[in-house]
Amino acid sequence: MARLEGKVAIITGAAQGMGAATARLFVQEGARVVLGDVLEDKGRALAAELGEAAVFTPLDVSREESWEAATALGVDRFGGLDVLVNNAGVMHWAPIEDIDVEKTERLLDINVLGNLLGAKAVVPTMKKAGRGVIVNISSVDGLRGVNGLAAYTASKWAVRGLTKALAYELGPAGIRVCSVHPGGVDTTLGNPGGLVGDDLQSKYVGVPLQRIGESEDVARATLFVASDEASYISGAELAVDGGWSAGTYYPGLPGTPSALMPS
Ligand SMILES: NC(=O)c1ccc[n+]([C@@H]2O[C@H](COP(=O)([O-])OP(=O)(O)OC[C@H]3O[C@@H](n4cnc5c(N)ncnc54)[C@H](O)[C@@H]3O)[C@@H](O)[C@H]2O)c1
Repeated sequence: MARLEGKVAIITGAAQGMGAATARLFVQEGARVVLGDVLEDKGRALAAELGEAAVFTPLDVSREESWEAATALGVDRFGGLDVLVNNAGVMHWAPIEDIDVEKTERLLDINVLGNLLGAKAVVPTMKKAGRGVIVNISSVDGLRGVNGLAAYTASKWAVRGLTKALAYELGPAGIRVCSVHPGGVDTTLGNPGGLVGDDLQSKYVGVPLQRIGESEDVARATLFVASDEASYISGAELAVDGGWSAGTYYPGLPGTPSALMPS
């Protein structure tokens, strides 16, 4: 049997990148999906490609009223809501002296408030059904600190905290809440310069698995967490980062990749 047979999922930020890969995989595994994004043309094109199992709705995750249509589509078109993947996110990189307040507020509205509003929107339906799964896409930067990404890092730690609070609050209602923490992934957000080949991979020599991630690497982990295979997993954080958050290379000690060896 397909791993999400009979399930209905809302996926945010589904027009491209990891959200789109997750939507494709979920449909392949038997789910019907509501795709939400601010990128309407791309979102509609993906829904058309996926056929009757998918529908697109314009969704700005930071606006509460925007969620009504998304949840109504899940319930009215597909008969329920079993899974929410809070995937939409944006980045703002700058040294702390140059942090832009407006961009930071927008980032927090999307990356943090957006996740919270998503949960708020789906929980009544999930509670009625007595089951549900919320998967929040945080980041490797929600597991450690990184330079130049203060606002983004703070937002992704907030997502991790929100996940744990909701796991406690919603567990008694049969709703699981987990966070997935991608490392560098080859998407518009993760590779804005569109680097390829060695130019791209050379930026990831500090990653134990020695490569950037692909959207499908993350989608497969999200699928596992969303499926009944993870039925006793809640409040957990799953790093999908090639080992990046596991530690650090100490140049010179055995096992250090040659590119990181002192010359
Ligand atoms: N790519 C990486 O290296 C990386 C690493 C760790 C975590 N992440 C996280 O993974 C998630 C997906 O990122 P991606 O790499 O696929 O990026 P992406 O830019 O390819 O996709 C993000 C999607 O979110 C949508 N979006 C932005 N603002 C929105 C809003 N207000 N409402 C609804 N949709 C909105 C965008 O239109 C886009 O389709 C994000 O939360 C990101 O922070 C990415």
